[in-house]
Formats: sequence, structure tokens, C-alpha cells
Amino acid sequence: NGRRFFVGGNWKMNYSKAIADVVNNALNNTKDVDVEIVCAPPALFIKDVVASKPAHVQVAAQNCYLAKDGAFTGEISPEMVKEAGCAWVILGHSERRTLFHEDDDFLKKKIDYVLNKTDINVIACIGETLQEREAGKTNEVVERQVKAYQEKIANDQYSRVVIAYEPVWAIGTGKVATPQQAQDVHEHLRQFIGKNATADVAKSIRIIYGGSVNGANCKELAQKPDIDGFLVGGASLKPEFEQICKARQ
Ligand code: G3H
Repeated sequence: NGRRFFVGGNWKMNYSKAIADVVNNALNNTKDVDVEIVCAPPALFIKDVVASKPAHVQVAAQNCYLAKDGAFTGEISPEMVKEAGCAWVILGHSERRTLFHEDDDFLKKKIDYVLNKTDINVIACIGETLQEREAGKTNEVVERQVKAYQEKIANDQYSRVVIAYEPVWAIGTGKVATPQQAQDVHEHLRQFIGKNATADVAKSIRIIYGGSVNGANCKELAQKPDIDGFLVGGASLKPEFEQICKARQ
């Protein structure tokens, strides 16, 4: 289907030289694996990771603003992200949405800026809370979130976008979605995305899963037809990140 397996490591607000060494060691063993690997360290350490990572690994920022420069205290621009050596940026992570009040309207403007003013690729995150799932609203919520991004993605820009489905109840909880739960949402999303774009987009868009992925549960998830990779938090800082990158082998 042409969808190359994709594994992102979201380091969140974690960094030390020792962590970087562990990750580099794990990734040195993935050179010959058919997988696209992207690490997202805290912005201050992007340049260190760019300098020390294995050549086949790419780097992402965990967030960015939607202007080139100016009076935006505390923010970094997509242009700066690019200059520091990143090919990717994560947008709309649930921690950004919940803790920092980023909503669909703001995220729509961000993806618009990144796709149209830079050549940076986007890991666009979505996902429902436990309350929303229990209320039977999972599809409704992820449709709303993905539609907001889609309003600003031209059909020829989907190759620069990876959708990360991360149910909030599975993030950092050790409570991974079952492979079937994840597959069901991914399959639904693929159809929905196609309806707003084209059948080709539906076929080619990569939809990755995030939420308590680890070395032990990754293989079974990776077997599902609509799961094209992972966005990994905690386990992306550990030796088992190697196994996760090799989940499709
Ligand atoms: O971006 C990554 C997700 O938030 C998953 O985090 O693997 O620690 O559950 P986790």
C-alpha cells in the first residue's frame, strides 16, 4: 500500500545526555530496517540530538507557533524548527490541548502555516478522552479533530502529514488500546479522511497509534492493516524503542 512504517519518539519534557545515549544506542541497531524514525526532544536540545543521532533518524519539534518571528514570548517558529535541523513538527498533542488549551481552531491555523509557509512535515495528533469513549463519542470526536486539520491540507500535501491517533486514556497510563480498538478507529478515520479528500489520500495517508506502546505490545498492534506505525512516549526513551522500530519485521 506504499505506507512506509513510521515510528515517532516523543520525549516530552525529558532530556539528559544519558537518555540521548540510550536512544542512540537503540537506534544504531535499526539502520537496515524499513521504517521511518523520528525523535522529538525538547526544543532546547534539538540541536544536540541532530548532532548526535544516527544518520537515518530524523528529528521533530514537539510544537511550534504560527509566525516566522516577532513578539511571541516563549514560542518558537516553524522556520526556527527547520533551521535547527528538524524535518517534522508534532501538532495538537493531547497534552498541548488539555494543559495548554490549544483547540481545533488554533491547530488548524498552525497546520496551515507549517504546510504552506515551510516544507516541514507534520505529525497531527487527535484522540478522545475516557469520558468521550464511554459516552460512545469516539468517532464523533476524532472526526471533528481530523476535519479541522483537513480544512487546511491540500490533496497534494497529505504526503507531508502523518495522523497520530492517541486515545487520551491510553497515554502514559500503561492502559494500551487493544489492537482491535485501535484498528477500528484507524479504519474509520481512513474512510472519513478519504471522504474529505480523495480515495488515493485515504489509501496513502499514514495513521499511527500512540498510547502506552511498548516493546511487548507493539508487534500485535503493528499487524493491524490500518496501523501504520506508532507515536511513542515513555518507551521511546528506553532500549525497547529498538523493538518498537522493528515491530513490523
Ligand atoms: O506522544 C506520545 C504519547 O503521548 C504516548 O505516550 O507512550 O508514554 O503513553 P506514552
